Amino acid sequence: MSPFHVTRSLPEDATGAALRTDVRDGLTATPKTLPPKWFYDARGSKLFEQITRLDAYYPTRAEREILRTRATEIAAVSRARTLVELGSGSSEKTRYLLDALTDLRAYVPVDVSESALTRAGEALLAQRPELDVHALVADFTGSLTLPDTPGPRLVAFLGGTIGNLLPPERARFLTAVRSLLAPGDALLLGTDLVKDESVLVAAYDDTEGVTAAFNKNVLSVVNRELAADFRPEEFTHVAVWDAEREWIEMRLRSRTPQTVKIPALDLAVDFAAGEDLRTEVSAKFRAAGVDAELAAAGLVRTHWWTDAAERFALSLSVAA
Ligand code: SAH
Ligand code: AVI
Repeated sequence: MSPFHVTRSLPEDATGAALRTDVRDGLTATPKTLPPKWFYDARGSKLFEQITRLDAYYPTRAEREILRTRATEIAAVSRARTLVELGSGSSEKTRYLLDALTDLRAYVPVDVSESALTRAGEALLAQRPELDVHALVADFTGSLTLPDTPGPRLVAFLGGTIGNLLPPERARFLTAVRSLLAPGDALLLGTDLVKDESVLVAAYDDTEGVTAAFNKNVLSVVNRELAADFRPEEFTHVAVWDAEREWIEMRLRSRTPQTVKIPALDLAVDFAAGEDLRTEVSAKFRAAGVDAELAAAGLVRTHWWTDAAERFALSLSVAA
């Protein structure tokens, strides 16, 4: 049986230091913000998986449809011997690629959520014992050192997670991904597409309240890690469509005037009644915009596939 390696690419307290910096910077800014990567502790990762099964949350189903129908074509074009997956989460949809890539030797899932990586890795090892799985606990927006596995590499970034980065972060991220690609390597990118506002808002404000629980989970993470005293029930989950910037914004709206203490930062944060804390943007894309962002990072798109209802796209690109 091949080994299942988990590598923490960060020094022991780097995660804590990054959280402290992000919370201090975000909660002292106007308007207040927190980066979405802090949703994903063990509970947040499970809540996200619940979201993917909601009727209203179409992106996972749409992307799965593309992977199911196009994995053989993607595999034939890429002929990858290593699949690197950024923000791999449960790796559930990835199975279509893993099954189609007949020359595959190694799978390198990269995620900040160690619990998601471990669960996904163990499930995969049971099903594909011959595959080398090198899981990396790392922030994909930082500098990534990939294990020495055979090329060509296919770097997959699925789920539309690129939309959770702000435009300047996306530009830096795509440039960094481009620098990882050798001749013959490719990037497989999942992007959710612009569509009717009512469909978008319903996907981010489900009637079962799972997305609300996911959103508020970031407050529980800050409470646990920084001894803060956020009362999640004092905040309301809000999802709004920004038609100009073409992104969904998830926010937590303070129900009352309140002060939150964060002893680990020696910080007290005042919220006015109705004040919003932005916790996530989820950008939606058009083909021309994707191409422009890829080109600006030195990448050229070779393929574009959508689901039948054209809700979601997968693109393949290579170094220009
Ligand atoms: N690719 C999966 C999961 C998407 S959820 C799917 O399509 O269903 C987003 C995933 O990205 C989560 O597992 C989360 O832990 C991870 N993630 C978010 N921000 C990250 C970051 N900056 N670096 C690494 N992983 C990140
Ligand atoms: C991971 N990411 C692509 C999800 C999204 O749709 O932006 C996160 C999410 N936020 C609310 N629901 C799902």
